[in-house]
Amino acid sequence: MARLEGKVAIITGGGTGIGKATALRFAKEGAKVIVTDINQESASKTAAEIQGAGGEAQAIAHDVTREEQWEQVVAETVKHYGKVDILFNNAGIYIIKPLAEITLEEWNRLMAINVTGVFLGMKHTMPVMAKQKSGSVINASSIAGLIGAPGHVLYGASKGAVRIMTKDAAIEYASAGVRVNSIHPGYIDTGMVAYASEATKHSKEELAQGVPTGRLGTVEDVSNVVLFLASDESAHVTGAEIGQFGHPKLGETIASIIEECKRFQKPWGIFCPSIEHAEGWIQRGASLVLVGSDALWLLNGINSLNGWKRKYSPK
Ligand SMILES: NC(=O)c1ccc[n+]([C@@H]2O[C@H](COP(=O)([O-])OP(=O)(O)OC[C@H]3O[C@@H](n4cnc5c(N)ncnc54)[C@H](O)[C@@H]3O)[C@@H](O)[C@H]2O)c1
Repeated sequence: MARLEGKVAIITGGGTGIGKATALRFAKEGAKVIVTDINQESASKTAAEIQGAGGEAQAIAHDVTREEQWEQVVAETVKHYGKVDILFNNAGIYIIKPLAEITLEEWNRLMAINVTGVFLGMKHTMPVMAKQKSGSVINASSIAGLIGAPGHVLYGASKGAVRIMTKDAAIEYASAGVRVNSIHPGYIDTGMVAYASEATKHSKEELAQGVPTGRLGTVEDVSNVVLFLASDESAHVTGAEIGQFGHPKLGETIASIIEECKRFQKPWGIFCPSIEHAEGWIQRGASLVLVGSDALWLLNGINSLNGWKRKYSPK
């Protein structure tokens, strides 16, 4: 039996990138897919591709920031199919900009799409799912919702919010049989990475060097994770954050740090397997030596913490 046989799924931002790949994958696994996007043409193309391959799909023009449009999407889905089993809150935008240059307009716009859109999606589908006593919501967060990076105050704030909203909603709805999980991809080769490459002046190849596997993720890499969370295979998984794929090379960093600490013969030399570990040490007054190709990621991830001394030694 197909993994989503008989299930009804709403996917936002399904016109391109990760949303489109997931819509195609869901349909292949037997789901009826409601493809929504602010860009109606792209949503219609995704739905047509699914129908062309023998699947079932409908396209709806939908701005995730508009509550009345959410009401309409959910009402139409229930009218046609009688239920909503899966919501993939995928629509999002990306802005990389230094903190002091972010305008209030940009802040409000990105937050409206990346955070309010996810809130409204959960608000209008989860009560329907609770009545059915089953449902799965998957929220698109990011590696940027887990660690800091230069130019990411705005985007990171939105994805950090999505991470914790997911856990709060998961707890609230666990006894109702509705699951909510977040995914945290690193660099996935869509228009967003093309934008990141332009904004950071690093080629895609250079960005890929910061990924443990040495390559950018593909949209299929993500849709496989979303499929697992959408299916009953993850029936006991809720409030989880999954898919830390495409992250910086932490393992390499740790090895480099140990080497560097030996070189400096620093009594305070420590290595930090994660930002959280680093925070604990820093609060106790430790110095860190961060080295390696991804040292900047770590450094910036803990940059916001006060009261610690750091030394950055690029190699
Ligand atoms: N590509 C990556 O490297 C990456 C990494 C981590 C997380 N993500 C997240 O994954 C999600 C999808 O990213 P992607 O790379 O496929 O991006 P994408 O730009 O290819 O697709 C985003 C889609 O969202 C739609 N959209 C934008 N504003 C909307 C609105 N107000 N209402 C409805 N739809 C809207 C766009 O039209 C587009 O079809 C986003 O939430 C993104 O933040 C992407």
